[in-house]
Amino acid sequence: MRSLSRRGFLGVLAAAGGSAALAGCGALGIDTPPGQTGDTLPSARPLPEPYRVPLPRPAVVRPVGTEGGADLYAITQRSADVEILPGTRTTIWGYDGTFPGPTFETRTGRPIVVRHRNELPVPTVVHLHGGHTPPESDGWPLDLLLPVGQPTAHQHMPGDLALGTRDHHYPTTQRAATLWYHDHRMDFTGPAVYFGLAGLHLVRDEVEEALPLPRGDREIPLVLCDRSFTADAQFAYPALDRTLTRLPGVEDEWMEGVLGDCILVNGAPWPVAEVDAARHRLRILNAANARRFSLALEVPGGPNLPFTQIGSDGGLLAAPVEHATLDVAPGERFDVVVDLGQVPVGTEVTMVNVLGRGGTREVLRFRVVRAARDDSAVPTRLSEVEQLVPGPVRREFVFRRGALGDHRGWTINDRTFDPDGSQADVPLGETEVWRFRTDVHHPVHVHLDPFQVLARDGRGPGPFDGGWKDTVDVRPGEIVDVAVRFSDYAGRFVMHCHNLEHEDMAMMATVRTTRSKP
Ligand code: C2O
Ligand code: CU
Ligand code: CU
Repeated sequence: MRSLSRRGFLGVLAAAGGSAALAGCGALGIDTPPGQTGDTLPSARPLPEPYRVPLPRPAVVRPVGTEGGADLYAITQRSADVEILPGTRTTIWGYDGTFPGPTFETRTGRPIVVRHRNELPVPTVVHLHGGHTPPESDGWPLDLLLPVGQPTAHQHMPGDLALGTRDHHYPTTQRAATLWYHDHRMDFTGPAVYFGLAGLHLVRDEVEEALPLPRGDREIPLVLCDRSFTADAQFAYPALDRTLTRLPGVEDEWMEGVLGDCILVNGAPWPVAEVDAARHRLRILNAANARRFSLALEVPGGPNLPFTQIGSDGGLLAAPVEHATLDVAPGERFDVVVDLGQVPVGTEVTMVNVLGRGGTREVLRFRVVRAARDDSAVPTRLSEVEQLVPGPVRREFVFRRGALGDHRGWTINDRTFDPDGSQADVPLGETEVWRFRTDVHHPVHVHLDPFQVLARDGRGPGPFDGGWKDTVDVRPGEIVDVAVRFSDYAGRFVMHCHNLEHEDMAMMATVRTTRSKP
């Protein structure tokens, strides 16, 4: 019933002409939480009390050797039973059987090769999000890595198929940044990431290391996501095709996005971290399929602590930016420093999502347990950020709902994803202005190179748009202009909405980069 009424409502809006009709409309329907595009999938079992389990840190993966002058890493994609809800086991799909996957620690100027082996029951495609990667290694959504021992299945598929293992070459020529890697198989990215195929990939360089930022134990990766659970503590996902092999998408009720009711940080439900009374660097990744976070740091009886943003998707900002709340859309990363030395030892500082209600408002707690020396600082100059200067070429991409065959889906310029038809042929080295327009919220992501936000609704960039971005949160009925410039690699890449339900239901476009004419 609830979906029926909402469908009716959206039908009226679509008929009224899409984006304009939705602008400024805070609530899409009674069951769409404020600030979200998506619907809550309630868990079929009780969830744990917040702030009872320790914050885990994903393991760091070490190279197993070298290959052609590059560090060689080996990752096995496999399922594993892990404890997420205390006292229960959840079957995940994980890189090396962990969720999140292990963290890569890499350096600018040091190429790496990652050899992926697929022991899962379905084909996979791994993509390094934010990576400046040649097309053969970028994770084209049809370049399937077939499971070990499944030589005949899927051979009708048109991509570059690999059986069992595939090497991804990452030149790592880019500046220091917080990247992440995740599954990217056409039509099935949402469930694959939901079941656990996501991890962090850090790039470090001298510029960053020369800064007196918090480091070591005081640099904390925070992979945020939301999940719902079945009665027997498995991840609940409303896929239309439970085998995840043929029919893409989710049940109609969740086509706007799947919102879980349990918030996980680094794979643990509402964890707590015991920390020094000192500055900490938080590398925040929103790895949720659809949920947006607007984070705040609450101090009992006192004012909230601010976030000092030092970096965005594409690495360090030119100068720090202070935020009272931090909006983080799916796919985005924010590198921030928070000063937990501002509160007395014994204080519990709670990171909340002000867009949430009840359990989904809670995220993570810092328990400040000891006084400590703190030599860190946030310098007023962080890095050199080149300002892109746009040339004459302008393109517009409209992100909105539309038909996907007989089903409802999501489109870019009224087209569903067509791997063979390019929606933009862009010469390498040219800076273009791309305009993104939306109906509902769409976090727009572009592969290969980061971009810079020029304007929102004709005004300047928003507070969360600073620096190099590869994913931009385009709000309902909004117009965002960005400057894009691709370099080095000619070939086929994608741009898409990073609401993974939208992406799977066809909100993706092929971008072809071409060598400039001599
Ligand atoms: Cu985070 Cu195309 O991906
Ligand atoms: Cu990407
Ligand atoms: Cu979208």
